[in-house]
Amino acid sequence: MASDIGIAPTPMAATPDAAPAREVVLAVENFGLSLSGVSSGRNLVDGVSLSVARGETLCIVGESGCGKSITALGLMGLLPPVAQITSGTAMFEGRDLFRLTDRQRADIRGSRMAMIFQEPMTSLNPAFTIGNQIAEGIRRHRAMGKAEARSLALEMLRRVRIPAPEKRLDAYPHQLSGGMRQRAMIAMSLANDPQLLIADEPTTALDVTIQAQILALVRRLQDETGTAMILITHDLGVVAEVADQVAVMYAGRIVESGPVDAIFADPQHPYTIGLMGSVPSLGRRAGRLATIPGTVPPADRMPAGCRFAPRCPFAAPRCTAEAPPAQLVGPDHRAACWFAPLELHAGGPA
Ligand SMILES: Nc1ncnc2c1ncn2[C@@H]1O[C@H](COP(=O)(O)OP(=O)(O)OP(=O)(O)O)[C@@H](O)[C@H]1O
Ligand code: SF4
Ligand SMILES: [Mg+2]
Repeated sequence: MASDIGIAPTPMAATPDAAPAREVVLAVENFGLSLSGVSSGRNLVDGVSLSVARGETLCIVGESGCGKSITALGLMGLLPPVAQITSGTAMFEGRDLFRLTDRQRADIRGSRMAMIFQEPMTSLNPAFTIGNQIAEGIRRHRAMGKAEARSLALEMLRRVRIPAPEKRLDAYPHQLSGGMRQRAMIAMSLANDPQLLIADEPTTALDVTIQAQILALVRRLQDETGTAMILITHDLGVVAEVADQVAVMYAGRIVESGPVDAIFADPQHPYTIGLMGSVPSLGRRAGRLATIPGTVPPADRMPAGCRFAPRCPFAAPRCTAEAPPAQLVGPDHRAACWFAPLELHAGGPA
């Protein structure tokens, strides 16, 4: 059963002195998901709540196996047959994505919402030219003739700054470099002006210089279009570079969320602190750690209570008995730890 440790979506700002109102594009509440025959009665993704607004980038960060991709696939309606959504709502343009038919989801995918993956070859068809694939994606969702769709495809290749775009239009995916394929993928995903782009480790497979170029490109396009973006990464450098909001995921739950500055300046969950390479000493910082000892629990062995307890230096009996709810630890900043906010427990947990 889903526990309620999730992070409530931020309401639209209301006061005149506050930052401009967020125009929430996607609001997910209490999302739970299990894998039949695998997650043995416990949700794999559990109580996940998050929101992303127009023009904003939400980074979901966590170690390998934390459930980032399966969460994204659930939101996109691309789950493998073994996965079932067990709870929650995902409001997007006035409709709950979790209650749409497969047909309705397919209509939204590639038009109102788009996704880019780590390896563009998983989405690009090796048998068709780049131009054909972008044009097809456009024509699937818009009443547009072939010539018009082709010229829009060319325009998209220009916008993602692919060199010699006229030539690339007739190239096959294998004729492009990894960086260019990712640019082509971005062109395809943005061709129908989506409200929301979900990018799952879009630069991980690329070398560092190309990574930086692709991130700069995505940021520029986002500025131009106002597209909301969920960017999945395990790279804190990328988070620092592009995030407005951050959700830290551990073992299928959001353990901490908030504005990027607050997460970096004042991490409040022992897992976040560990990820950042600091020894979590409640109330003070000491030393540096490269990795957190232990491993993420596999999907079929999710611990009871706080899922981080087996690796947490502060685990107390209460932690393994009961999942900690998300506590407000600062403006729009929440942490799901029994000892948050840490300043209140500077002497150490009881
Ligand atoms: N189709 C599937 N069948 C069985 N288990 C799965 C399936 N997809 C994901 N899992 C399990 O769900 C958990 C979360 O996987 P997921 O791919 O979402 O992690 P991730 O955070 O994206 O990791 P990475 O950073 O390595 O991409 C893992 O334990 C994984 O083994
Ligand atoms: S609830 Fe307990 S085990 Fe979980 S992170 Fe906090 S101190 Fe650690
Ligand atoms: Mg993944």
